[in-house]
Amino acid sequence: MTQLPGLLDDLEAIRKDFPILDREVHDGRKIVYLDNAATSQKPRQVLDALSAYYERHNANVHRGVHVLAEEATALYEGARDKVAAFVNAPSRDEVIFTKNASESLNLVANMLGWADEPYRVDSDTEIVITEMEHHSNIVPWQLLAQRTGAKLKWFGLTDDGRLDLSNIDEVITEKTKIVSFVLISNILGTHNPVEEIVRRAQEVGALVCVDASQAAPHMPLDVQALGADFVAFTGHKMCAPTGIGVLWGRQELLEDLPPFLGGGEMIETVSMSSSTYAPAPHKFEAGTPPIAQAVGLGAAIDYLSNIGMDKIHAHEQAITEYAVKRLIEVPDLRIIGPATAEDRGAAISFTLGDIHPHDVGQVLDEQGIAVRVGHHCARPVCLRYGIPATTRASFYLYSTPAEVDALVDGLEHVRNFFG
Ligand SMILES: Cc1ncc(COP(=O)(O)O)c(C=O)c1O
Repeated sequence: MTQLPGLLDDLEAIRKDFPILDREVHDGRKIVYLDNAATSQKPRQVLDALSAYYERHNANVHRGVHVLAEEATALYEGARDKVAAFVNAPSRDEVIFTKNASESLNLVANMLGWADEPYRVDSDTEIVITEMEHHSNIVPWQLLAQRTGAKLKWFGLTDDGRLDLSNIDEVITEKTKIVSFVLISNILGTHNPVEEIVRRAQEVGALVCVDASQAAPHMPLDVQALGADFVAFTGHKMCAPTGIGVLWGRQELLEDLPPFLGGGEMIETVSMSSSTYAPAPHKFEAGTPPIAQAVGLGAAIDYLSNIGMDKIHAHEQAITEYAVKRLIEVPDLRIIGPATAEDRGAAISFTLGDIHPHDVGQVLDEQGIAVRVGHHCARPVCLRYGIPATTRASFYLYSTPAEVDALVDGLEHVRNFFG
């Protein structure tokens, strides 16, 4: 195997933890899974934790007095402790479980939509996002702007796929109530400069929300170091099951801001005319939460932490650097996003001459190589670069240099196939 500095030492053993990586597709070809930005595969340790939960502990949480209810509650709340430690949250009560990052971001938008001063978003105020957001960090803010009359503004992009912050003082102004942006873009791979944006937002008293969906799975994440007010991410991209997401929020904000969804377990008392609410995080977790999924997220965090997020990050940087180097050698291939390994994550989007990305994806699939094609729920990026779609290869802790080579060979085959 090609050896690169920074690769995980025990890569072969790690790959064995993921049963699906042994799958064969299309006439016995071993799958080359390069669609990790869409969702990651799950290690045996997470699958076992899910089975163990359902086989031995399943009950609803926070309401029963029987032993199973107590065990389920301890496991669910234990998962919250693990998330809090994983992101270095000052308090476990700042960790809200949602069903995915989309719900986390919608929750922030709706908290602000219903909030009183000083957080209230109304027609005298502005919301700031960027042109490289996932639709999950665009549409909730469009909805909020439409409902409140607030003005939606955004940072544009440079030709090489970075945020254009040259007009930061005009985009973020005294009227800005919230700045919400992605830490690592799922389509461009760009790793954004948090400090500069947070500094300007704080200067004008705006809140900051960071979409860390493509960061939390791949690198150490420290919400205190980020300096944001809210951080959202999604479990299924970090070895956990689908159906679990996280919103971290600063405690005093969570105390002040109103709930979005009402229902069981988010209340203190209820009468027919009014209700009072439980303290955060329960105020924001109406109804039966995703219990098994939270337990699975806890197991995923244990798994990733045992390997070490810094080592995982170094591994992916090595793979990404190698992939960028090999991909730019492919004739007619244009990387959409930074064409270097600096300040970028492990998702690499590209076009290949005039061949439609769907055709690229199809011919790669026939060779057992799974990539994503389309606009990746970030259509404004495709509009910005004048392309209908891209092909995206995205890597994770179990990706190998041999898989990068397989992709490059596969692309050669695509080029030959389409003449
Ligand atoms: C950057 C980013 N934000 C948000 C999301 C939404 O995640 P989910 O679909 O789990 O809500 C994704 C998923 O692709 C993403 O990549």
